[in-house]
Amino acid sequence: MPATPAVELFEVILAVHIMAVVVAFGVTFAFPIIFGVGAKIEPRSLPLLHRIEYSIEQRLINPGLAVVVLAGIYLASKLHVWSDFFVQWGLGVSIVIGALVGSVMIPTAKRAATTAERDIAASGEGEVKLSDEYRALTRRLNIVGSLLSLLVLATVYIMVTRPGS
Ligand code: HEM
Repeated sequence: MPATPAVELFEVILAVHIMAVVVAFGVTFAFPIIFGVGAKIEPRSLPLLHRIEYSIEQRLINPGLAVVVLAGIYLASKLHVWSDFFVQWGLGVSIVIGALVGSVMIPTAKRAATTAERDIAASGEGEVKLSDEYRALTRRLNIVGSLLSLLVLATVYIMVTRPGS
């Protein structure tokens, strides 16, 4: 009888799946604090913070999401659970997250960076006055960012509890 390995490949891939979730989405929960402190202590840091924000989305969140999905596809195939709700939810939510990051978060953060830069230049040496345009852009970033965070938390809950399975 062949010996069963102490650790099976699917368990390693499951660990990779969860590691990628942490790496991709962990930082997003800190964004409200980073921007809250930046706006309060040093508004002139806001263009830099928005550049860091969209660079993280391009270099960490999108590639991390790709690893989550690839590992998830392997797991769903290996465990024969494609028809389970939690897998279909995971796939659907990953598409929604990828689309919102690519088509709303990254372009809006780019516009917020240039708009904040313009507002800072217009304020001269005095107190920084941020325009209504900048505030509208950050409102959109906050609303869509919160929605993304909620979707990630809901997905962890659904992946763990697997309703209906
Ligand atoms: C934002 C997206 C996702 C998040 C946050 C997420 C999170 C998780 C977590 C935390 C687990 C561990 C659950 C446990 O072992 O109790 C898990 C397991 C799993 N995920 Fe995901 N996942 C996501 C996307 C996907 C996708 C796109 C697929 C499939 C295409 C998928 C398929 C699976 C499968 C099959 C398992 C369970 C393996 C097993 O039975 O042990 N996930 N996921």
